[in-house]
Amino acid sequence: MCGIIGIAGTKPVTDRLLEGLKRLEYRGYDSAGIAVIEKNNHVSGLVRRRAKGKIRNLEERIELEPADGLFGIAHTRWATHGAPNEINAHPHFAGRVGLVHNGIIENFTSLRDELKHTRDFVTQTDTEVVAHLIDEAMKSGLSGKDAFAASLKKLTGAFALGVVIDGVDGQIFAARRGSPLAIGLGDGENYIGSDAIALASLTTRVIYLEEGDWAVVTTDNVEIFDLNDTPVKRDITIVTGSLAAAEKGNYRHFMLKEIYEQPETVSHTLTHYVDAFNHKIKTPSELELKDLDFAKIERLSLIACGTAAYAAYVAKYWFEQLAEMPVDVDIASEFRYRKPALIKNSVAMVVSQSGETADTLAALRYAQSKDLQTAALVNVMSSTMAREADFALPINAGPEIGVASTKAFTSQLTALLSLAICAGVQRGHISETYEQKLIASLTQMPRLIAETLTLDDDIEKLAHDLSKAKNAFYLGRGMHFPLALEGALKLKEISYIHAEGYAAGELKHGPIALIEEGTPVIVIAPTDELFEKTVSNMQEVSTRGAKVLLITDKEGARKAKGMANDILICPDVCVETAPIVYAITIQLLSYHAAVHLGTDVDQPRNLAKSVTVE
Ligand code: AGP
Repeated sequence: MCGIIGIAGTKPVTDRLLEGLKRLEYRGYDSAGIAVIEKNNHVSGLVRRRAKGKIRNLEERIELEPADGLFGIAHTRWATHGAPNEINAHPHFAGRVGLVHNGIIENFTSLRDELKHTRDFVTQTDTEVVAHLIDEAMKSGLSGKDAFAASLKKLTGAFALGVVIDGVDGQIFAARRGSPLAIGLGDGENYIGSDAIALASLTTRVIYLEEGDWAVVTTDNVEIFDLNDTPVKRDITIVTGSLAAAEKGNYRHFMLKEIYEQPETVSHTLTHYVDAFNHKIKTPSELELKDLDFAKIERLSLIACGTAAYAAYVAKYWFEQLAEMPVDVDIASEFRYRKPALIKNSVAMVVSQSGETADTLAALRYAQSKDLQTAALVNVMSSTMAREADFALPINAGPEIGVASTKAFTSQLTALLSLAICAGVQRGHISETYEQKLIASLTQMPRLIAETLTLDDDIEKLAHDLSKAKNAFYLGRGMHFPLALEGALKLKEISYIHAEGYAAGELKHGPIALIEEGTPVIVIAPTDELFEKTVSNMQEVSTRGAKVLLITDKEGARKAKGMANDILICPDVCVETAPIVYAITIQLLSYHAAVHLGTDVDQPRNLAKSVTVE
């Protein structure tokens, strides 16, 4: 994932910016850059140095062509949209403005259309348009601070920003909306950083910007404003302890940090699979999968374990509904032993966060032994599965430390939905208009995930009730049935409460015998064509004493008013992307139940992050 650091200093900053970038290397990157306001003979100038590859390449670049100043910004970029080269590396410049960015600007093409007659664009990134917006606002007479604030209001999406402006001495502008950003407080200087680890060599006093905050950072002052430009005070956290602790930033557990990273990680997944610039899904050849032709594939086998298998189950609905592609989903440990009647002209795709799970790797090798084309959708592109499969497909979620998979799950879903759309386009089942509608829905996801995260306090209260239960049921229909399976798994594996996920229509065929007074039943049901049926299943259990939590949207809450003990209202989201956004609620529900019970959330008993034995 990308990383940001900035210093509003009283002594040269370049070496310390580079040191901060090195602390961000753990996030993964493939290009880097710095921008500083240089003062030579009292001539102020915004200069930058960028380089592809590792930070040492940037250091060599700076040795050849020194650049230093008293304040500046720096960035490590993990290329997904646009090749990993110097042109696409941050900081991006426009006029007097230098800018670094994490995340996704959803409405960048419409903003570019507004500016293209007066501004020269040099990249096809979403980032560049923000720099032009700020510079244009200053040309209209606004101060740097007002131009920054005014530009933020024009942006839609989930992002973190760091900005320096030539001639606006001593000020760094920062904003957080969906992607984390922190302020560091030093002695006579101040800083910005993606997380505490970026700032660890500079300070232990850190302010974590909250959702929608923006700030003006100078050497001796930090002004923070909320979404409505109201000045606010935010707590100062003292970040001490090991580097590992700092990696959690202000999060108590890696799992919570990774849940909160999802607006940013989903945007990283999206920018690999979606050509947002042209509102199109990327073709296999654009994804460097030139021999993968969905139009010629008769059948798709999705094979995985655990959470990855539930992502595959959701994807079955997408491939069959969007591309009329027949899909089999297999638990990897069962796949090869059932001696599947595989069709030559089909693709076996394994889904695996680690890319090393023994059962899934064995399934990949079995499919290859049957001469199937194979693909591996993984989070680790250097993994065995990625190396052995015919096609390696990244999810770009960044390192996932928590044993319970969260951000990898939503990135798996995002990549699989993108591939299903790609298949639908290639097989002639998705019109250009529908494709554009789907692309718009995809690019809204980081923001909708960020909005869903604001339900955290409500979910924490509901989780405290749930944590008292000995058993729980998760129900869903359609693509929310696999989500119910995932919700049950999350609760089981970190809180040790026994939970079952069921197709809502299936409960009456036996399991309903287990429902008694107070049994928690979590029903996942956005208002889609199956909503009414799911509500009637919900009533079947509530009349038998179940304590029902309905997870739905505004319309669903209105329709089911009085029918559930509790209702959690998610943002309105389209049918196709609902499972990805609703996943946030079941992750937080299990997280808070586990924390309340005091289990080891990041390293639950008996579990390993990657099960490399059969
Ligand atoms: C997920 O929360 C679990 N830790 C587990 O089910 C995991 O999804 C499964 O072991 C598969 O791992 P993989 O994605 O690395 O192959």
